[in-house]
Amino acid sequence: MEVIASAPGKTILFGEHSVVYSEPAIAAAVNKRATVRIETSKNNKTTLKSKDLGFEAELDTKNKKYSLKKGKPGIIRYILEALYMAHDHSPINIDLSIDIPIGSGLGSSAAVTVATLAALYRYHNIHFNKKTLAEKAHKVEYLVQGEASPLDTLVSTYGGLIYLNRKKQLQKIRTNFNYPFVIGVTSKYGSTSKMVANVKKLKQKYPKIVNPIIKSMGELTDEAKRAIEAGDVNKVGTLMNINHGLLDSIGVNTKELSRMVYIARGAGAIGSKITGAGGGGSIIALCPNKDSEVSKAISTYDSSFKFRFSRKGVSSKVIHGSSHRKHKKQNNTLKNKHNKHNIKKSNKSVNLSKNKKNSLYKSKSNNQKHKRKNKSKYSEADGVKIDDNKLIFKKKSFKTINNNKIDYSR
Ligand code: PMV
Repeated sequence: MEVIASAPGKTILFGEHSVVYSEPAIAAAVNKRATVRIETSKNNKTTLKSKDLGFEAELDTKNKKYSLKKGKPGIIRYILEALYMAHDHSPINIDLSIDIPIGSGLGSSAAVTVATLAALYRYHNIHFNKKTLAEKAHKVEYLVQGEASPLDTLVSTYGGLIYLNRKKQLQKIRTNFNYPFVIGVTSKYGSTSKMVANVKKLKQKYPKIVNPIIKSMGELTDEAKRAIEAGDVNKVGTLMNINHGLLDSIGVNTKELSRMVYIARGAGAIGSKITGAGGGGSIIALCPNKDSEVSKAISTYDSSFKFRFSRKGVSSKVIHGSSHRKHKKQNNTLKNKHNKHNIKKSNKSVNLSKNKKNSLYKSKSNNQKHKRKNKSKYSEADGVKIDDNKLIFKKKSFKTINNNKIDYSR
């Protein structure tokens, strides 16, 4: 049995930090992805390898432990937590490939989590829909990080351009807005939890000053949504610049981020701003007809890549084998873990394979049977308790794509 699933990274266009205080946010999937391939292990071991991240580990999925053969941990914790949630502990080999820069505010952990869960559901022939998947992935992020907004996992699951409203409800922005952007990535990490805590302190100390700034970021995000829907690219650019100024005013800018923002504008971007938590990490620049120039200019000191909104969210398919029969018994246990609401009939199933052998119908009818059989027996969604988690997320243990030391004073 062999399955594959992939999910995109994300960039926040508007509303980082203010979203923490229930203001809206706009985020988009990027054309960089995490891809997880799972195959049945031929020996009794569960292994995890990533050539892109340079690590190899043997996993103890029951106890959420690993022994590292090569490289640094970091993202392994998300995979372990996902395995604990959606795997029966039978031996498998997992291969992770990823071209999303790690720890740079581009949603690498969410993409890895979403792809891992989707691959596991495929592997166990468990029917799932995007809503369930995004919720479970968010739970994994929460278990690992302690604090996480649902934005990353939502965007990674659904793809496209997402507006999160004040009630934390998701709306897909349907638009033809398809201008080129450039993302610039510094070699410095930005710790989301640290930045969020700093903003909170500032807000508590100067409420009369900071509260209106947060509110203004929310207003600006709504204005940006209307501008995107109307295809008003210049207005979107202007609003990005204002948003950057506001982010600077609440203390999440750095000299490296600032440098990229102004280099981008100098090379022709009509809007550029921090994307994500700041304090390191990335910027985003809107560059109609100038993406190559902007990307090249940023690359003088930092890493950069061009991107357009990617409509593609999570996708998954069976490569080899039709169902995981060997582990049928365990599968039932897993399916039982999957609560009623998660296995309900849905047309929104995630890029289901066209391969009829591995048909959705089979999985649906199994689930229907299972649903009847276990009607009142299982009420917990996945049997994972938050208290179980002793893992502490440290963004600093992550690797970036660019390890060059940069002297900004030059
Ligand atoms: O840098 P990222 O991708 O972790 O984004 C953080 C966005 C914040 O609004 C600062 C925090 C959050 O949880 O929404």
